[in-house]
Amino acid sequence: MLTFALPTGRSLDSCVDILERAGLPTAKLKDAGRNLVIEETSFRYLLSKPSDVPAMVYYGAADLALAGSDVIEEAGIALTELLDTGRGRCVMAVAGPEEMAEKFGGHVSGLMGLKVATKYTRLAEKTFAEWGVQIKLLKLNGSVELAPALGLADCIFDVVQTGGTLKANGLRVIKETMPVSLRLVAGISSVQLRWGSLFGVVEAIDSAVRAA
Ligand code: PRP
Ligand code: MG
Repeated sequence: MLTFALPTGRSLDSCVDILERAGLPTAKLKDAGRNLVIEETSFRYLLSKPSDVPAMVYYGAADLALAGSDVIEEAGIALTELLDTGRGRCVMAVAGPEEMAEKFGGHVSGLMGLKVATKYTRLAEKTFAEWGVQIKLLKLNGSVELAPALGLADCIFDVVQTGGTLKANGLRVIKETMPVSLRLVAGISSVQLRWGSLFGVVEAIDSAVRAA
């Protein structure tokens, strides 16, 4: 029995599609309802909050996981990345009110000293430090697009997929930073102790995402 952690929310459909194409059992997973542990033939799936998926493999609760590279970077814990599925593509970006985006578009130096709302504080600190731009951070756990409108922050650092949420909240990208996609990861101990069992699954997922 292999345990596979998957993120709940908007990435779950892409994850289930990848697993199905790889020939893994997904019938019960598709019909999970409010269940967070789903047992199929020789697989157990754990449905976890996206930001907690890296910890599930790190602490050995799961052998494998599909997780966004955004949450993997933010978690900052040592995992073995087995492959980039190329699915769930989006991008990390700094965004702000339209006038600010017009003024600073592409140039982050103008953000010096401003307050940035994000749920990715670790990644934001690293990104702005690489640019040599000092900022103040406001940690929120989601819906960060609210912050500029409420005067809680000047701009945001978040993941952008379609751009729909930014647009709906009067915000625009100032600068795109890191591309994001779903990665297949494993805990270091699972790779060391269970590679014989993991190998076939990794190969099947690799072939499935290459073929798609
Ligand atoms: C994510 C992200 C953006 C939005 C991007 O939020 O934080 O707000 O999706 O997608 P879009 O460009 O297609 O609009 P999510 O809905 O996952 O919720 P959260 O921010 O409250 O965690
Ligand atoms: Mg959001």
